Amino acid sequence: MDEQLTVGRVAELAGVSVRTLHHYDEIGLVQPSARTAAGYRAYSAGDVERLREVLVYRRLGIGLREIADLVNDQATDPVAHLRRLHTLLLEQRDRAAALVTAIDTELKERAMGIRTTPEAQLKVFGAQLYETIGSAYPATRRTDPRIAASIWGALGDARTVLNVGAGAGSYEPPDRDVTAVEPSAVMRAQRPAGAARCVDASAESLPFEDQSFDAAMAVSTLHHWQDPIAGLRELRRVARRVVVFTFDASDPGWRHRFWLTRDYLPEVAGLTAGRPSVDQLARAIGARMEPVLIPWDCADGFFEAYWRRPEAYLDEPVRRAVSVWTRVGPEAEQRAVTSLRADLSSGRWAERNSELVALDAAELGLRLLVA
Ligand SMILES: C[S@@+](CC[C@H](N)C(=O)[O-])C[C@H]1O[C@@H](n2cnc3c(N)ncnc32)[C@H](O)[C@@H]1O
Repeated sequence: MDEQLTVGRVAELAGVSVRTLHHYDEIGLVQPSARTAAGYRAYSAGDVERLREVLVYRRLGIGLREIADLVNDQATDPVAHLRRLHTLLLEQRDRAAALVTAIDTELKERAMGIRTTPEAQLKVFGAQLYETIGSAYPATRRTDPRIAASIWGALGDARTVLNVGAGAGSYEPPDRDVTAVEPSAVMRAQRPAGAARCVDASAESLPFEDQSFDAAMAVSTLHHWQDPIAGLRELRRVARRVVVFTFDASDPGWRHRFWLTRDYLPEVAGLTAGRPSVDQLARAIGARMEPVLIPWDCADGFFEAYWRRPEAYLDEPVRRAVSVWTRVGPEAEQRAVTSLRADLSSGRWAERNSELVALDAAELGLRLLVA
């Protein structure tokens, strides 16, 4: 159906003034190309699509001239446009989440009579997510020996290994020649003395020649990459073998697999919307996929790690070391924690999840991609 909307109706729906729409029309940014039955100029479905794009870019603070270049880019198809908008919005949300965390911290510090230094007050504006949450990471995040065994096994006989999104160095094999890549200065600073050399770069643009390494690995990092497919192709370009530890959210019912997302934090689903599926990722580099079970006493405190130890999620340091909790925002976090606390004390959690007590390891969608 080709629906046409008048200028007034579009202004009302989009929450902008008719004057703004006229201005976009005059400068050729979005021109209503249809006519109503009464002969008035109207917006076609295509015009609305273009306007939506313009409005998202405006909300991201981009200037009109730059927006015109972006929306007139003929080389980019509508899906690629949407993906670009999606990535930019996620980045903006991450930046907002980082600011909320920083302000929360400052409020708590002020309540204790501690004044945040001028340097710390400004630092958060220049920071990416891990610049803000990264310092909480080492409290609970470390190599789990069983997951490490799967990753190291998949590296085969590789002697030189590139670890991308390396963070503080978990899972770096001690018996190989490792080079790390990590874009966050906060994370790089937390690498232990004697850890492998670490380069400041991102997966999407690796500063290495083709085939420089026997293998490239990426652990619990792919969901942070702006363009995961471009990043994986980079890994493929610089190494003969690629091993990625990631998460499968391709099955529409995935969030029901884990009680935390099913019963307490459904907002997690919004974090993966629009991202490439694990099948698309695997296809991009011709990888095979292997499930990785999470041991009940997993030593690496990632989001799913405490599936049989639910009380752990009530601990603030456990949550601060997992970006999901910051990305869903403080309201969802508090609601989930309050509700979990109540269900743990009433016995409702135990009732609903009685089958977990007998399990030593759980399949919660973690995957190893090996190419
Ligand atoms: C959850 S941590 C994982 C760190 C480490 N691999 C581990 O298993 O402990 C995710 C890391 O990915 C990094 N990261 C974010 N975006 C990236 C990108 N585009 N390329 C490479 N690393 C990135 C973050 O700075 C962060 O250190």
